[in-house]
Amino acid sequence: MTATRYKIDAPILCAAPWAGGKRRLAPRIVELLGEHDTYVEPFVGGCAILPQKAPCEREIVNDANPAVVNVLRAMRHNEYQLSRMLGPMAFDRQTFENAKSLLASIAPGADLIGTDIAAAQLVVWWMGANGYAGTTKTGWFAQRRTKTGGDPAVRWESFKRSLPALSERLRNVVISCRDFRDFLAGGMDLSGIAIYADPPYLTKRITYAHDFTTKDHADLAAILNRFRRARVVVSYYDAPELATLYPADRWERIEVGMSKSSANSRRGATKTEAVELLLVNRGTA
Ligand SMILES: C[S@@+](CC[C@H](N)C(=O)[O-])C[C@H]1O[C@@H](n2cnc3c(N)ncnc32)[C@H](O)[C@@H]1O
Repeated sequence: MTATRYKIDAPILCAAPWAGGKRRLAPRIVELLGEHDTYVEPFVGGCAILPQKAPCEREIVNDANPAVVNVLRAMRHNEYQLSRMLGPMAFDRQTFENAKSLLASIAPGADLIGTDIAAAQLVVWWMGANGYAGTTKTGWFAQRRTKTGGDPAVRWESFKRSLPALSERLRNVVISCRDFRDFLAGGMDLSGIAIYADPPYLTKRITYAHDFTTKDHADLAAILNRFRRARVVVSYYDAPELATLYPADRWERIEVGMSKSSANSRRGATKTEAVELLLVNRGTA
């Protein structure tokens, strides 16, 4: 038995194991964002970038999903209460089912606000099978070790230990819950601003609770193409439409990996390979 088999103290560098989360790509994304004093992230999801990026003067993140916004806000300013709630919760099916029932009892459309709701949400995301957070599905209690998620019980304890550091990282971050069009409207185009946009996919690999239509992709591209001085990095799986939305004379294409499957397509679906891309606007170095 070696100590490295049990990485109980490995810090968790995201708020939730988000479907399509960019935890592993984060170092490359941060490198491409370059030096900046203002950071803007319209689709923050599981918040995988901030914990791997040095803080800067002004950081503003956003997501249309109110559940994750409530969690991030609770982590930022109610970490003490959140840790007191989650601390005694052992990794077990009953805790998972109780949290699931609490969330299911909230009327559709009701405000998702409060530390107790955030705690239940975190239990469901971290005790649940990998890659369901942010999607239309709840998933099931995670029992097995996975290649990317490790042992779920260890991961849960590591997450709880990481809460103070995650909270500290979010301390001065502005967190909003808006549609990306409102969030980016009137955004200043200045050097020193870095924008990281990780929208839902063009090809339906994952169905998010808050998803995109073809028009949403076009609207986003129209907004992002307006930035000439701010550095913009966009994440996508490669698709033919990207050549029109993000033309080669304005955007550098950087292939960063291949992805084989997603949690949403795990059951019964054939595994497909897709190229993960980062698009970076030219002339903003
Ligand atoms: C690919 S995920 C982002 C994952 C995140 N980068 C991470 O690493 O965890 C896309 C996100 O876009 C959000 N979203 C979908 N439609 C939106 C909209 N119209 N405005 C803002 N956010 C939206 C979803 O809720 C989802 O969290």
